[in-house]
Amino acid sequence: MGRLPFIAGNWKLNKTVEEAVDLVRQLKASISGVKDVEVAVAPSFTALYAVYKELEGSSIHLAAQNLFWEEKGAYTGEVSPLMLKEVGCQYVIIGHSERRQFFGETDETVNRRMKAALGQGLKPIFCMGETLKEREEGNTFSLIERQLKGGLRDLGEMEFKSIVIAYEPVWAIGTGKTATPQQAEEVPRFIRERLERVYSRQFAEEVRIQYGGSVTPENIKGLMSQTNIDGALVGGASLKSETFSKIVRFKEM
Ligand code: PGA
Repeated sequence: MGRLPFIAGNWKLNKTVEEAVDLVRQLKASISGVKDVEVAVAPSFTALYAVYKELEGSSIHLAAQNLFWEEKGAYTGEVSPLMLKEVGCQYVIIGHSERRQFFGETDETVNRRMKAALGQGLKPIFCMGETLKEREEGNTFSLIERQLKGGLRDLGEMEFKSIVIAYEPVWAIGTGKTATPQQAEEVPRFIRERLERVYSRQFAEEVRIQYGGSVTPENIKGLMSQTNIDGALVGGASLKSETFSKIVRFKEM
């Protein structure tokens, strides 16, 4: 089917501007020559512009970790889609479980952010995933379906092609407990089935689905060998060029 693998580093609340620039400098060198894998990094807002400058001329893309849906106005502390475009972002992470868990993000606000991002030509990395409790109670698939439908509500087919989905089981994020490749595969497979049924076959076949949650150089190969996993959203292991570049170079292992 030819979906281009996509590895993105989510730096979360880490790295000063200086450290961020230093990391991408190392990264440019350590992944140079890698072909047929798309790579992006998501520094914090304060480091975006400096990282963008450092990335000029490289194939690494820039992502933001969040955005607000209004273009401007009295919204103290928020960042607009246009502001992110201006500092060189192509992607924006939306609906990460940490936003849902700690900052009151809901399917509705995720949907508003999705529309705002797409309206400004930013590509959403649309995150979803179940908690341990939801998994243990057998609610994984119904939850994923709800998050999927909620986030995509009222979007047009034209917009689908810009979307990347990140399936991140909450119990695997930052815990060292990665889902087994088989576990990690079953939700992306389900997502594709639902997308085909509810939206379109083309969307289902073309959308890239990343797995996220304690991805490391040791487990990336097994994850990437799954039919429905097209990449990874990497937290902890993206903070060092040594580990992140090994993940990006998964084909060479
Ligand atoms: P992790 O984070 O790789 O540190 O588990 C992944 C994420 O939250 O995107």
